[in-house]
Amino acid sequence: MSLLQGRTAIITGAAQGIGLSIAEAFTAAGANVVIADIDGARADTAATHLKGTGAGDSAGAACDVSSADDMNALVELAVSRFGGLDVFVNNAGITRDATMRKMSEEMFDQVISVHLRGAWLGTRAAANVMREQPGGGSIVNISSISGKVGLAGQTNYSAAKAGIVGLTKAAAKEVGFANVRVNAIQPGLIRTAMTEALPNDIYESRVKDIPLGRAGEPSEIAQVALFLASDMSSYMTGAVLEVTGGRHT
Ligand code: NAI
Repeated sequence: MSLLQGRTAIITGAAQGIGLSIAEAFTAAGANVVIADIDGARADTAATHLKGTGAGDSAGAACDVSSADDMNALVELAVSRFGGLDVFVNNAGITRDATMRKMSEEMFDQVISVHLRGAWLGTRAAANVMREQPGGGSIVNISSISGKVGLAGQTNYSAAKAGIVGLTKAAAKEVGFANVRVNAIQPGLIRTAMTEALPNDIYESRVKDIPLGRAGEPSEIAQVALFLASDMSSYMTGAVLEVTGGRHT
């Protein structure tokens, strides 16, 4: 039996990058997947591409994770289309890197809004459904090693990603009684559009800090998300898993 056979999962920010890779791993494991993204057209394209590749079904949805209305509508879509909600991955993200001298208040607010407010809205909306169903559910929040160690030029992003750790641990305590598990992943440097946007010298200096000697692939985050989504991690909640190739700086 596949790990997520017959289950329904929502993944935010899944039109590309790590989110898309998670969607691919989940459909291959038998889940019906809703690919949510602020770019609804690309979410639809990704869902169409996934249909037929995996064992599960897929649907695309336009959703701005910082909007409570969008988030509630997204959860309703999954429930009406696939009959429930078992897994929710808060993955959508942006960067607005700059030193504090150059970072505007708008750059700070945008990053906090998408990552921290978005993850809170997603966790709340998902838990509202999961706590009412017999099996509970699994919520996976994508934090970052930046939220643990802090990175220069990312005071907004490091703060938001550290906030996601607190959110994960507090929510785990609130909804554990209903077998709703809430865990987080802290990826290190992963090869996606987000990191390809980094200046070459910064990218190369980060690779030098990685004991495994290379950036990670999105699929290497997806496998850990699959573990947390499935019953393989049935006794884990409030946990934060570092997936960094050993990098701690
Ligand atoms: P990406 O830039 O390739 O993909 C992010 C996706 O989120 C895009 O499809 C984008 O349209 C979507 N998105 C942006 N704002 C949104 C909003 N308001 N509502 C809904 N969707 C929105 O990024 P990547 O690298 O795949 O990152 C995914 C997650 O992993 C992010 O939370 C990121 O912070 C985190 N992460 C990435 C790392 C990396 O090295 N790539 C390292 C650590 C964490």
